[in-house]
This record gives sequence, structure tokens and C-alpha cells, in this order.
Amino acid sequence: MKFSIELSCESSTEWIETVMKDFDSFLQDHANCERKASAMAMSFVAKYPDRLEIIPELIDTAVEELEHFRSVYELMEQRGIKLPAEMTQDMYVKQLIDHCRSGKTDRFLDRLLFASIIECRGAERFKMVADYLDEPSLKSFYKALWTSEAKHGNIFVKMALNYFEEKEVYDRLHALNEIEGQVLKSLPLKAALH
Ligand SMILES: [Fe+2]
Ligand SMILES: [Fe+2]
Repeated sequence: MKFSIELSCESSTEWIETVMKDFDSFLQDHANCERKASAMAMSFVAKYPDRLEIIPELIDTAVEELEHFRSVYELMEQRGIKLPAEMTQDMYVKQLIDHCRSGKTDRFLDRLLFASIIECRGAERFKMVADYLDEPSLKSFYKALWTSEAKHGNIFVKMALNYFEEKEVYDRLHALNEIEGQVLKSLPLKAALH
């Protein structure tokens, strides 16, 4: 069974060019995104402690994202880059969450599916970064991250299939994917993951 679907649009060439012009800022934002991804996986555990089937995988995902954070932070240390003084809100994630339905069960499904879409977008963008970079060690670093985020994209859809019918999951995933594409295009370009 296929667990994830194609993103509704590709990231633009302008985005990757913006990132490459200020790679230090991109690294700062990237580190924060990994830290937030770990916190998000654990927030599912906190919000849905009765969904026992998915808790071990959520813990594994949180640990993996924290390992990604450690790796990006090590890279920043090597380059003398500090974490940003202030952790600003990620407008992309905020707007996606604003589109989640409000009932407890509907919201659970939407949050899982957006988690999958956010991971797929991360994978798509890390692949672009890996393709664009020349430095071999940095290139293989982003290639490894791309593989890991692509795997996470599948995990959250698979989690949803524990609790919801396949048709409901894929119909909703399709709708949320369209919303993600619109949100992404509406945001200003930055040297950041989103
Ligand atoms: Fe990650
Ligand atoms: Fe991830």
C-alpha cells in the first residue's frame, strides 16, 4: 500500500536560489525546524495518550528529529554560526494548523496528515539543497536527511490508517495537500526551510 502522496506543487527555483544566497541563515532555521519536529512528535503523545498503537513510533520519530537537530547544530558550531537570538513563529506551520478541523477526532486526522505533508515538503527541499550543493560532505548530509524525512512522510499516514478508513485518509490528504501548496505559494521567500 502506498502511504504518502505527491505534493501538490514543486518548490520554486527562486526558493533554492534564496537559500543558497544566505546558507548560514538557512542553517539557523533548519536547526529550529528539526527541534520543532521533535517537539511536534512528542506533542502527539501528550495530546493523544490513549492512541497506544502509535506511541512507540512517535517516540522514535521524536528521537530521530532530535538527532537531526544535533547534527545541524554540530554543523553550525563547526562554521561558527549561533542559534538565532529569538525563535520566531513558523508562519507556514501556523497557517497549516489553522486549517485543521476542530472536532477532536477530525483534528487528530488533520494533524497527522499535515505532519506527513510537512515531512514530504522537507524531504523535497532537502533533496533540492543536496542537488544544488557542491561540497561533498554537506551534499551527503542533506541527502541522508532527505531520505529520513521522506520516511517520516510515510509514517504519519500509516499512523492515520490505524484509526481511519483508507478512503477518508486519502481524500483528506488530497484536500490538505492542495491547501499546503496554496499556503506555501502565499509566503514570502526566505533563506529558510519554509
Ligand atoms: Fe528531521
Ligand atoms: Fe522528519
